[in-house]
Amino acid sequence: MKNKWSPKSWRNKPAKHIPTYKDVEALSFSIKQLSQFPPLVFAGESRKLEKQLGEVSKGNAFLLQGGDCAESFSDFHPDNIRDSFKVMLQMAVVLTFGASCPVVKVGRMAGQFAKPRSQPTEIVNNIKLESYKGDIINGIDFDQSSREPDPQRLIQAYNQSASSLNLLRAFAQGGFANLKQIHQWNLSYVEEGQSKNKFEKMAKRIDECLAFMEACGINDQNVRQMNETDFYTSHEALLLPYEEALTRIDSTSGKWYDVSAHMLWVGDRTRQFDGAHIEFVKGIGNPIGIKVGPTIDTDELLKIIDIINPENIPGRMTLICRMGAEKVSTNLPRVISAVEKEGKIVVWACDPMHGNTIKASNGFKTRPLKNIISEIEQFFQIHRSQGSYPGGIHLEMTGQDVTECIGGVQEIKESDLNSRYHTYCDPRLNASQSLELAFLLSEFLNDERIRIQQSSKI
Ligand code: PEP
Ligand code: CO
Repeated sequence: MKNKWSPKSWRNKPAKHIPTYKDVEALSFSIKQLSQFPPLVFAGESRKLEKQLGEVSKGNAFLLQGGDCAESFSDFHPDNIRDSFKVMLQMAVVLTFGASCPVVKVGRMAGQFAKPRSQPTEIVNNIKLESYKGDIINGIDFDQSSREPDPQRLIQAYNQSASSLNLLRAFAQGGFANLKQIHQWNLSYVEEGQSKNKFEKMAKRIDECLAFMEACGINDQNVRQMNETDFYTSHEALLLPYEEALTRIDSTSGKWYDVSAHMLWVGDRTRQFDGAHIEFVKGIGNPIGIKVGPTIDTDELLKIIDIINPENIPGRMTLICRMGAEKVSTNLPRVISAVEKEGKIVVWACDPMHGNTIKASNGFKTRPLKNIISEIEQFFQIHRSQGSYPGGIHLEMTGQDVTECIGGVQEIKESDLNSRYHTYCDPRLNASQSLELAFLLSEFLNDERIRIQQSSKI
């Protein structure tokens, strides 16, 4: 049948941002290898995540999704994975404790390698080369051979994802995430600033709670959640030949799953309802995110939702809104009312990063923390006025001590950007800025939850 979905049916649709490989034979060889490699995640884990996201969509939990804009081969180091994981744990505990709300943790990790770029080519000193498209496609160095899409990189990306995931699973389940370890999660380089002290104070209160619970007979020996945590992975489903090769039938449900990550999302540049990326994700059972930028047409968005989630399953769809602080008040309300009016069940998440990128006077791409905060604050306010639930946050962040976004308690200025600017693509929050944001978020979320509780009593 012509219209039947298969992992490769996207090939019959217009596909944006997929590179052209010169060596077609080498590409087929890589894809063949990938299709024989073991799955990185299990379908049952993706279903568990969908269930948890279903709780988010009902207002019973909060989604924290974060990590690098682009992972790279050269920054691949256990310390970097550990430190990003630590910051996510810290943020999650701040939100859980501060707002008494379960937090679903999803990393932009172990597979976030492919990047859509605004320009297909880049010109430096009159030399025109293909833009850098992420380490799974080509290299960042500005020379002909590095910028040529290389099929061997698909294999390296898979291998790196496998070992990153292995370490993340060990951290999540091997005792590192035990709440008793909370004091170990503070990163040594984060200065004794407000957020670090605030975190230590909170950690001491958690210690007291744990001691009390222990006295009541509840401890990490008899309650699994106190000793370990669930940590999921996600990335943009951009490079479809890679995703196709890792899409398999799950023997328990008989359904297709993309086993490259627990959750996949479609970017703002590739979300055309009749395009290849939507065609691909509609057939996989993983929870799906759609980036929603200010140019979104609400009728098209409703079509996308119907294509991906015709049965309106809670947790299947997350709308990751990335409007920008200046455009959120004009664009988010129309999107929320269109979706809610039709009774579509979605997780509403806020990506306050991608609509707030500016060019500093010294040429660096940066994001002012005050604009990031402003978008988040407006996101909460708009949901409050529309009666919908602000269910999550999507951040580009790292545990590394970088200077990429300006502002925050460290008062990073434009002139500081060149000191530790290491990102392969967009500017990320560092650990101090991420923690600062988590405390602020916990206040917003706490207010929201008090409001929900009060309205359910009426
Ligand atoms: C991203 O998340 O890195 C990205 C490219 O986002 P968007 O599709 O929202 O621009
Ligand atoms: Co980005």
